[in-house]
Amino acid sequence: MDPFLLSLYLSSTLSILLLLHLLLSTCRRKLRLPPGNYGLPFIGETLQLISAYKSENPEPFIDERVRRFGPIFTTHVFGEPTVFSADPETNGFILQNEGKLFESSYPSSISNLLGKHSLLLMKGNLHKRMHSLTVSFANSSIIRDHLLLDIDRLVRLNLDSWTGHVFLMEEAKKITFALTMKQLMSYDPCDWTERLRKQYLLVVDGFFTIPFPFFSTTYTRAIKARGTVVEALRLVVRERREESERGERKNDMLGALFDEGRSGSGGSGFSDEEIVDFVVALLVAGYETTSIIMTLAVKFLTETPRALAQLKEEQEEIRAKKGVASETLTWSDYKSMHFTQCVVNETLRLANIIEAYLGAPCRTCMSEVTQFRRDGKWQGSVGAACQPSVYTPFGGGPRLCPGYELARVSISVFLHHLVTQFSWTPAEEDKLLFFPTTRTQKRYPIHVERRNITVSV
Ligand code: HEM
Ligand SMILES: *[C@@H]1O[C@H](CO)[C@@H](O)[C@H](O)[C@H]1NC(C)=O
Ligand SMILES: *[C@@H]1O[C@H](CO)[C@@H](O)[C@H](O)[C@H]1NC(C)=O
Ligand SMILES: *[C@@H]1O[C@H](CO)[C@@H](O)[C@H](O)[C@H]1NC(C)=O
Repeated sequence: MDPFLLSLYLSSTLSILLLLHLLLSTCRRKLRLPPGNYGLPFIGETLQLISAYKSENPEPFIDERVRRFGPIFTTHVFGEPTVFSADPETNGFILQNEGKLFESSYPSSISNLLGKHSLLLMKGNLHKRMHSLTVSFANSSIIRDHLLLDIDRLVRLNLDSWTGHVFLMEEAKKITFALTMKQLMSYDPCDWTERLRKQYLLVVDGFFTIPFPFFSTTYTRAIKARGTVVEALRLVVRERREESERGERKNDMLGALFDEGRSGSGGSGFSDEEIVDFVVALLVAGYETTSIIMTLAVKFLTETPRALAQLKEEQEEIRAKKGVASETLTWSDYKSMHFTQCVVNETLRLANIIEAYLGAPCRTCMSEVTQFRRDGKWQGSVGAACQPSVYTPFGGGPRLCPGYELARVSISVFLHHLVTQFSWTPAEEDKLLFFPTTRTQKRYPIHVERRNITVSV
């Protein structure tokens, strides 16, 4: 099974599972396991792991074990013996042989939440087909010609509702959800999408009810919420399929999925159920990732006034060039946001200090991370040319995140409107946490004040 969508959502804790299950599911019987400590019966070292990731500094959990047992060690977390590898060669070998020597697997608590037709459970050709479909849906010319306009509009719509005090993480999540609903199925924010989002949040909670999913009310509630979400989406898909059979076509992901079914070429089309699972998986893939990066970018900028000043200068220049005539950002505006891209890269890098262990990227790059993980500091160069990113927060090869440009554009547009329309100060001290997801403890509350828009160069 391919560690597919989930891994990214699980850009946080659960992906730990990937790494491990990857190794274990097939080899347990055949191979001797690397050295390690199994901890208590059944729960193993889960609690130590969780408490490490609940602190601001999760590294010692790994470090201590690497010191005792070497770069490849076994532990027992989330109900399974689990191998951690901090050895680059081993990780490369595993990835290359995925599906051959190794099969990755997911705990059933997770696959139940994602749905049996989720991309997560796909392999081989079907995965390839769905991957390339997603890529061509979100490639840069599509963003430039179709998606950017809505991204810009929906970001501004959200900012318009801001009053003196907001939880930035909440707003970032609302924005990301709104963008995704629009891109997938042409829905603008409304009561229906907000109700769906609430249910969807319950589903997401379910991913993190470890170590005892099946005994947990959160998990039970998540399964129920998934049912509600699926039911709602199924109605939309059914309606859209009827429209599409009448020849109406909307320019969104659902449209692309129906086209794919029609255009033959071996493609037999997708059932409603498959489409619904696919949509759920895409929601999961883009939601936490994009919204946490939006939030952390603002947090890091706030803590690095020189970088904030430079970003503001860049964005105000863009705004000034546009004059009052047009608020809407264009593709060439986006392309001219050079420093902003540095900020996005740097935020991804810092956020990945941790995700590297846990998240999708890090199925692969445990080792690369070690070189970053101790600095915890902003390194985006202020002033002089900024360093190109040396690692790959969006994965790579056949699994390169198909949403990477979309995420960059969304984050950049958000930063543009934020800094040109508002000034802000943190309302409370807030800190980064890495469990169960990478996030800030208090959802980053800020006081915001609308700036007077003055157009001057
Ligand atoms: C800052 C935001 C994001 C980050 C850091 C991120 C990161 C990643 C990473 C590292 C992978 C590779 C996973 C692996 O190696 O198995 C991935 C895959 C994926 N991402 Fe993203 N992602 C982001 C946003 C998005 C968005 C907005 C979408 C929505 C279109 C998206 C859709 C996907 C999909 C469908 C895959 C699976 C690709 C495949 O394996 O075929 N991502 N993402
Ligand atoms: C993007 O995808 C569309 C089809 O959805 C395709 O026609 C176009 O050539 C692609 N553009 C790029 C830059 O790959
Ligand atoms: C940001 O990172 C990407 C790769 O992730 C790289 O291609 C790009 O050049 C970087 N941009 C800047 C301004 O550092
Ligand atoms: C914005 O401008 C108005 C009058 O033009 C002024 O009263 C107000 O204090 C200004 N606000 C800020 C935040 O500068």
